[in-house]
Amino acid sequence: MANVTVIGAQWGDEGKGKIVDWLASRADAVVRFQGGHNAGHTLVVRDQVYKLSLLPSGIVTGTLSIIGNGVVLDPWALQTEVAKLESQGVTITPDNFALADNCALILPMHRDLDGLRETAAGSGKIGTTGRGIGPAYEDKVGRRAIRVCDLAHLDKMDPQLDRLCAHHDALLAGFDQPPVDRAKLLEELREIAPFVLQFAQPVWKRLKKVRKAGARILFEGAQGVLLDVDHGTYPFVTSSNTVSGTAASGSGLGPNSTGFVLGIVKAYTTRVGSGPFPTELGDADGQRLGERGHEFGTVTGRQRRCGWFDAVLVRQSCAISGVTGIALTKVDVLDGFDTVKICTGYRLRGKIMDYFPAHSADQAEVEPIYEEMDGWSETTAGARSWADLPANAIKYIQRIQELIETPVALVSTSPEREDTILVRDPFID
Ligand code: IMP
Repeated sequence: MANVTVIGAQWGDEGKGKIVDWLASRADAVVRFQGGHNAGHTLVVRDQVYKLSLLPSGIVTGTLSIIGNGVVLDPWALQTEVAKLESQGVTITPDNFALADNCALILPMHRDLDGLRETAAGSGKIGTTGRGIGPAYEDKVGRRAIRVCDLAHLDKMDPQLDRLCAHHDALLAGFDQPPVDRAKLLEELREIAPFVLQFAQPVWKRLKKVRKAGARILFEGAQGVLLDVDHGTYPFVTSSNTVSGTAASGSGLGPNSTGFVLGIVKAYTTRVGSGPFPTELGDADGQRLGERGHEFGTVTGRQRRCGWFDAVLVRQSCAISGVTGIALTKVDVLDGFDTVKICTGYRLRGKIMDYFPAHSADQAEVEPIYEEMDGWSETTAGARSWADLPANAIKYIQRIQELIETPVALVSTSPEREDTILVRDPFID
């Protein structure tokens, strides 16, 4: 049976939510494999609005939902999200929700450090979501993280706390802050431990069983390839690998299990936070994209920066992430533009480039080379077949497909689940 891995192919916020919901309703298990509660999407099911940051999308419909080892977990954020969903009538038990016992925790000190560092960085700030994601991943790689399984052994934590606090106390001293309050931290962990531990298990084992039974697994990526810590616009990235390959390492299944890689691509470009953005528009067109596309961050409420579609970036993302097909979203936001532009290459100090260079100064300096196409005055919102689309919208989509060298698997034409043109079903292909 086919599995599907969904990833964002730009800077996140590509409209993954709707596509993931649709796929989750047909999956037997949904797995988050990287990131943390810096992600966010809103689900509308039978007139109820659910807000998810950490839990996989399957949770609302009772599908087995799994948080894999690649996620950094804020246990208090999890508790709040679970309580909120339960108050809305969603049942969350160890039967339908499992948490990797080797998942690294986000602690209050990580959130504080995220804030302290962003403030101290001045013009060099990353523009993080302030959730402590970076500091938690650093501690994981630095081999001083506290993990979910440690919550069952809090009486044996001294060497670990020594390692963790030695590092953080030095950092805090540099910021003129008091050292970590170990007793308070231990107390907080002791309080939250039973809640977390009820869901904790070796999820790689559970997934192995699910896979053996021939079930369909949906791997739900967060953020986007251009925020990947290796392949993104470093240092203006998140601290995890957001590419499709992480679905395997971040869940404990091998690379042969990730199946169809569906790249979610917005019909124009947005970015939240600092960092280079070659096609960014500071004019009325950019403002119009933001207003028509309701471009405000789900987690932080920040206004998203907007610009034309950048085919160079998406071609690069699709190649790096082995995208099988894309889901093109929010085409309707472009309705009514007299002309639309696509970036097909860059000029860097007189030289033509067909890829995005690695250095941030070069990334900031590249000038987009545009191809201009006629727009369409008709609405594309709610289209469910190619025949419902204006000819110029079809030409635009086909041109994108050509330039990114990756086929379109589906086109989403409104937030409603049914308003989708399905070209290839990722679960069946
Ligand atoms: P962090 O993940 O909070 O460390 O933030 C690092 C960068 O990733 C910032 O530019 C954030 O705005 C961006 N980011 C993190 N999560 C998301 C997301 O879910 N959507 C869009 N941008 C995100």
